[in-house]
Amino acid sequence: MSTLVIFFSYTGNTKKMAQEMAESKGATLFEVKPVKLPSKIGSILRAYIGDMDKKSWPIKPLDVNFNDFDHIIFMAPVWNYKPAPYMNKILDSLPAGKSVEFIMVSAGGVTKNKDQVVAKVKQAGCTVTGWQEISLNMTPVGSVGYVMFKATLNK
Ligand SMILES: Cc1cc2nc3c(=O)[nH]c(=O)nc-3n(C[C@H](O)[C@H](O)[C@H](O)COP(=O)(O)O)c2cc1C
Repeated sequence: MSTLVIFFSYTGNTKKMAQEMAESKGATLFEVKPVKLPSKIGSILRAYIGDMDKKSWPIKPLDVNFNDFDHIIFMAPVWNYKPAPYMNKILDSLPAGKSVEFIMVSAGGVTKNKDQVVAKVKQAGCTVTGWQEISLNMTPVGSVGYVMFKATLNK
């Protein structure tokens, strides 16, 4: 079975896990990149204040063909209790007939819109075979501090 690990990562946690996952499964690894990486605190605030389901989070063209794979593993950080919004774009381009797995990486919370995401994947004619939440057990203050620190590094 050919497997694709497709991920978005802002501060590198998901990236590290995605690399390990792809290596352990002998899978192809693909990183989703925003057109503009949010690097200012205002952008982070926007994630909390704005509607995370809106399609207003442009990504660079997906240079990967989902049809080349049977199994697709999505990995993303949890933003405002949802998969980081860049994920929406990708789910829109899923072809039917794939088995799909989700691995969400958070500071401490869980994904609250799992049912909607699963419904969207099923609507595309795919099967969800797994959903894992990985919590890094950071305190909210520790998490915000960490994100701000990393955002500064990314400038
Ligand atoms: C905009 C933004 C929103 C976040 N929202 C949440 C949240 O709702 N719950 C949570 O537990 N962690 C939240 N976090 C923390 C990240 O999920 C956590 O740091 C994750 O490990 C980051 O993964 P990454 O290093 O791959 O970007 C948020 C981080 C950012 C930047």
